[in-house]
Amino acid sequence: MRILRTIPEVRAAIREARVGGSMIGLVPTMGAFHDGHLSLMRAARAASDLVVVSLFVNPTQFGANEDLSAYPRDEARDAALAEAAGVDILFAPAPSEIYPEGFATNIHVAGLTDLLDGASRGAHHFDGVATVVTKLFGIVRPDTAYFGQKDAQQVLVVRRVVRDLDLDVRIVACPIVREADGLAMSSRNVYLDPAARVQATALNRALDAGAAVFEAGDAAAGSILSAARDVLGDAGIDPEYLELRDAETLRPLARVDRDALLAVAAHVGAARLIDNHVLRAAETPNDRETEAGA
Ligand code: PAJ
Repeated sequence: MRILRTIPEVRAAIREARVGGSMIGLVPTMGAFHDGHLSLMRAARAASDLVVVSLFVNPTQFGANEDLSAYPRDEARDAALAEAAGVDILFAPAPSEIYPEGFATNIHVAGLTDLLDGASRGAHHFDGVATVVTKLFGIVRPDTAYFGQKDAQQVLVVRRVVRDLDLDVRIVACPIVREADGLAMSSRNVYLDPAARVQATALNRALDAGAAVFEAGDAAAGSILSAARDVLGDAGIDPEYLELRDAETLRPLARVDRDALLAVAAHVGAARLIDNHVLRAAETPNDRETEAGA
């Protein structure tokens, strides 16, 4: 595996591969790798000739009061994990390589970005994501790019950018990877002290409770959300949001009459955590069991 720092180095390495007809897979990350990140790298490895992982803690997607300076960084550990996952190129640029003096462009996706995490964190968050991901697509020009369903709204924003700007890249969303007790893996889980780590399991349990109401035959948003809210309340969690939305447009849904995203964000201990389940309108409970066990 090669670790590259500059855009010209990445371009040169990829140009060589492309001439040979290689399919290029890109996994954008901010590092502090866990099995969620590694699952994306494995998916890319299985389907690409050349796997590029970017490791860049993107300052523009963090708010003034967020955890940019505290965000976990361990490049040596990350490089070893990426290499073991079969990654060919780790692109780990300095901020000045991505945002040189005079950088002035911002990609803003209207509508999708001012609700859920956009409402909580501010629209700048998804502007930062959309802009850096578009730059990475321009630098690497991947055939396919891999994202996690853990950040469901991010996937929708990236797909919107690709469609609206006619970017020639296929977006693959990979399933959420969870700890044994159901907590969605996140680089931010390291902020959880032991008590908060236990409390954090309530997020997935709340989504499970909402999904169970739906699977038992009650598709009303009110019933699903109140079952989920009860679990959060019992765990002493006051969510930043707990919402049922159209899984494609993120518009509010009164009932699950199409695929729906049941999404939660909450501060637990020192961490801000997010999680979600997709409720499939045309799905039988048995299909869901299969998917959850996969
Ligand atoms: P980061 O939080 O490092 O996540 C990198 C990728 O890993 C994202 O696509 C995210 O959805 C995925 N991921 C994280 N936890 C996961 C889990 N438990 N299961 C499956 N996938 C998981 O998301 C970002 O970085 C940034 O916003 C980025 C896209 C790199 C732009 O800066």
